[in-house]
Amino acid sequence: MSYYQGKRVLITGAGSGLGALMAEQLGRRGAEVIVTARRRKPAEDVCRRVQAAGGRGHALLLDVGDLDAIPAFRDEVHSRVGPVDILINNAGVVFGGEFEQVDLAQHLNTLQINTLGLIAMSHAFMGDLRDATQGHLVNIASASAYVGLPWGSTYAASKWAVLGFSESLRLELRERGIDNVAVTTVCPSYISTGMFDGVRSPLLSPMLTPDKVVKSILRGVKRGEAMVSEPAIVKSIDLIKGALPLRLWDEVARRSGLSTSMKHWQGK
Ligand SMILES: NC(=O)c1ccc[n+]([C@@H]2O[C@H](COP(=O)([O-])OP(=O)(O)OC[C@H]3O[C@@H](n4cnc5c(N)ncnc54)[C@H](OP(=O)(O)O)[C@@H]3O)[C@@H](O)[C@H]2O)c1
Repeated sequence: MSYYQGKRVLITGAGSGLGALMAEQLGRRGAEVIVTARRRKPAEDVCRRVQAAGGRGHALLLDVGDLDAIPAFRDEVHSRVGPVDILINNAGVVFGGEFEQVDLAQHLNTLQINTLGLIAMSHAFMGDLRDATQGHLVNIASASAYVGLPWGSTYAASKWAVLGFSESLRLELRERGIDNVAVTTVCPSYISTGMFDGVRSPLLSPMLTPDKVVKSILRGVKRGEAMVSEPAIVKSIDLIKGALPLRLWDEVARRSGLSTSMKHWQGK
């Protein structure tokens, strides 16, 4: 029997990209998926894909940036579906460009959705995860949680914060003796979902396919891994950065194309 069989999984930002594919793949593995999105049509379309794949699906509207509405949304989930076993905080946005040319509202919105929304969702659903036989919180961060991302500074900031939040909460749960809630942080490099169209992938970090990343996430969650990083080089960034003086690391980042990868961003 699949690990996901009968588990109730809520995914934010599931109307497209990784979220939609995770929903479908979870449906294939027999999960009951709560597909949430800002707009009704994508949520319902993905819900149908979950059902066609053999799972149970529910389509619910959710804007994770609307922090005050999240507790009421949790109540809606409870009354319409029931408590969740697995929360996948996947919703995210990016606004690339020269820092001062991007509206401040867009910079702040990036943190509102990618970081504050993720924290508010984790807070609202932690009771569900603790009550579950095996609860699991899955936070989609990014490889940019480990490195500076010129032309994407607030995106990187939002993901550094997610990594710090996620790792802290994982350790706190362990220290508090809560062993039925796992926390997995996901740190992939660029993926071909459209979000980062136009970027130039750095050396040793080719554009990933959504399929590869989703398989890796579902395998990592099933195994209870604390970190899922793609490609493998992401796991070594801390080690390389820690071993080099900063000016040498800056040079590695420049020569590998990492520092200019976002310069030609034209994604959504
Ligand atoms: N693509 C990459 O290279 C890459 C790399 C590392 C990490 N990630 C992370 O992976 C996650 C999924 O991204 P993706 O690549 O699948 O891109 P995507 O297709 O653009 O997916 C992002 C999803 O988040 C939703 N969303 C945005 N703002 C929201 C809000 N306020 N409330 C609820 N949903 C919202 C979007 O819905 P709308 O259609 O309504 O905007 C969209 O469905 C993100 O957290 C992203 O940062 C992506």
